[in-house]
Amino acid sequence: MVKIRKAPILFAEETDSTNLAIRRLAEQGAAEGTVLWAARQTAGRGRLGRSFSSPEGGLYLSMLLRQSAEPEKDLRLTPAAAVAAARAVERCCGLPCSVKWPNDLAAGGKKLCGILCESFYAQGKHWIVLGIGINVNTLSFPPELAEIAVSVRQLTGRETALPELAEMLAGELDAAVVSSRRDDPALLDEYRRRCLSIGRGVLLLREGESRPAFALGVNGDYSLRVRLPDGTIEDVRFGEVTLRNSEA
Ligand code: BTN
Repeated sequence: MVKIRKAPILFAEETDSTNLAIRRLAEQGAAEGTVLWAARQTAGRGRLGRSFSSPEGGLYLSMLLRQSAEPEKDLRLTPAAAVAAARAVERCCGLPCSVKWPNDLAAGGKKLCGILCESFYAQGKHWIVLGIGINVNTLSFPPELAEIAVSVRQLTGRETALPELAEMLAGELDAAVVSSRRDDPALLDEYRRRCLSIGRGVLLLREGESRPAFALGVNGDYSLRVRLPDGTIEDVRFGEVTLRNSEA
């Protein structure tokens, strides 16, 4: 089996952001497949320029990858990481997980995990860092997050050994990245099976505008096919999509 990760998994008790730390490691010559996880982040980075709350109890892990010669293939790395994270949480913690398009993991109706894929240039090469943050042993969230976030421990009542979950996640990431680069149809099938946005009313949020729509399915390139209230069909590639309770 092809493996991307050949080096051991690195650990930091605390770092600013594992995505930034991986970037520094790449600047110092780290190889593709390098994985770093941290017990805490002081400046966790989220999608769309937001911060990502990263207290003790969560798993904050990043993997370094080379950019592919076909940039559209790299767009599939984030959904691949979502499938990998769902598999790891299920195997290690016994908690079934869904994916909220494009790449949040959800369980018990709330967000369990976020994924941030960033690209950068170092040592004369183009790189990608896949960063995954999972709420694992967190016992409670600040009021502004409690409505939307949940941890594995809150849902299962059990504590998870973070090194074990990190090891499993790195292995699943490895496998999912290889499948994604090979266009393995089984990966897409699994993403579709896990995607809870399909068949639901959604809100498309972009540039301060919010539009209702109905999610019809996930296309072969992992974009979301939606039907707008006037019957128009649109494929959404980027941006934010939240779930609504009613249909469009
Ligand atoms: C999001 O939901 O907005 C994405 C959050 C991604 C968080 C992870 S934690 C590990 C890695 N390091 C970061 O600074 N961010 C990602």
